[in-house]
Amino acid sequence: MDVVVLAASPRPDGNSQALADAFADGARSAGHAARVFDLNERTSGGFLRDCRSCRGPDGECSIADGYRELMLEHVLRADAIAYATPLYWYGMAASLKNWFDRMTCYISASHPRSAEVIEGLSGKRAALLISSEERYPGATLGMIAQVQEMTRYLRQPFVGVVQGVGNRRGEVAHDPTDPLVAARRLGADLETLHFTDYRVETPRPGAVWGDADAPIGQYRDL
Ligand SMILES: Cc1cc2nc3c(=O)[nH]c(=O)nc-3n(C[C@H](O)[C@H](O)[C@H](O)COP(=O)(O)O)c2cc1C
Repeated sequence: MDVVVLAASPRPDGNSQALADAFADGARSAGHAARVFDLNERTSGGFLRDCRSCRGPDGECSIADGYRELMLEHVLRADAIAYATPLYWYGMAASLKNWFDRMTCYISASHPRSAEVIEGLSGKRAALLISSEERYPGATLGMIAQVQEMTRYLRQPFVGVVQGVGNRRGEVAHDPTDPLVAARRLGADLETLHFTDYRVETPRPGAVWGDADAPIGQYRDL
């Protein structure tokens, strides 16, 4: 698989970058090609404007920065995408929110390649990597719910979340829950992770992970 990681912190070599790198390393260890992109570098042209007056006569976004190339040349071609962001005010960092806001221009019917963009975004496996100062589980819930809805809207299987706690640069490495290991594992398992929630009709063998008596093969068809 081709894996793209969008790193959203304005702080270079920070905690979310460490999670992004660990995730990409994990993906590479499983034989995937993985690349981390710095959203603050690539999309420095500003926030979404009023598309109706801002888009060019050809329907293209007129904000002159690396968004177009990142979207069309890298993200659309990838099979999976991970978002690495610090928790800012209980939500995602502005560059990542802006990534989604500006996507509106590319998926709207006025964009010359909207059908290709919608089709290309659909089906990609998505993962979320969060660094935060607080470890209180409620702190990240709003952002996780938002990403869940975004991925649902884009028809992307949302396969996992890793949270690392730290404040100083690189401090997530000292988080006793080992988020760098978890991010690496998530990257490595990205392709095969089972993501579908149970539904009422889901066959349920007694053992979740399988044992000599459990018909574990049932899961493969879900
Ligand atoms: C503007 C700003 C807002 C923040 N808001 C929160 C917050 O709401 N909750 C939290 O736990 N940490 C918050 N933090 C702390 C960062 O999430 C934390 O330091 C994180 O590890 C930084 O990641 P980075 O090194 O990738 O930039 C905030 C930091 C900044 C600069």
